[in-house]
Amino acid sequence: MQAVPVMTIDGPSGSGKGTVSRALAKALGWSLLDSGALYRLVALAARRASTSLDDEPALAKLAAQFDIRFSSNASGEEQIYLKGQDVTRAIRTEEAGNDASKVAALAAVRSALLERQRRFAVPPGLVADGRDMGTVVFPDAKVKIFLTASPTERALRRHNQLKEKGVAANLAALSLDIAERDQRDMARAVSPLVPSADASTLDTTGMSVDGVVRLVLEIARERMKI
Ligand code: DC
Repeated sequence: MQAVPVMTIDGPSGSGKGTVSRALAKALGWSLLDSGALYRLVALAARRASTSLDDEPALAKLAAQFDIRFSSNASGEEQIYLKGQDVTRAIRTEEAGNDASKVAALAAVRSALLERQRRFAVPPGLVADGRDMGTVVFPDAKVKIFLTASPTERALRRHNQLKEKGVAANLAALSLDIAERDQRDMARAVSPLVPSADASTLDTTGMSVDGVVRLVLEIARERMKI
């Protein structure tokens, strides 16, 4: 399906996908698709337009047409815009994550975002981070990784991440949120969170980001000539 090399990194919340994908894209000089950000943007745009999070046709229309832009500032930090407005922080709250998980369960929203996601595959290559990158969006990717970590460690990582971003968070509430979101992402009928049959599953509990990145690069070098 695609001539451009694609590496897919799927897994549940707090598995380290985001950090690892960013580091991999940087190490390889490839583009990055943060597909979770797209679902977060749909949810935020819906809230701002007072569109109900279960109005599937309206949400799909919004996802097909909304004006979004991904870029980075001079220090290389990501910047995400919705209708020209900086929403980088607004989409990272737990509320936005939970809303995203709800709109992500709707088939019409997922298909509205499909082509948009595939357009991220540009030379020299793409690291695609999400839940269904290896199963649905890039089924022909040469390297597919599924990252996991224990629920306790995932909640702790998420807690630290939010603290670093200056977003208030409570560890116990976060653990519950993560469990609820995982359940919804795994149980949904369309594109559920499951490893692709041909993915390498890595349990990253107790591993450093550098350790995971080294391991994934080893797998990638074995499978692709990079
Ligand atoms: O990775 P994240 O936490 O930013 O993702 C937010 C939500 O979006 C997550 O709960 C599930 C959903 N999502 C999805 O269904 N498919 C993707 N490819 C990426 C995210």
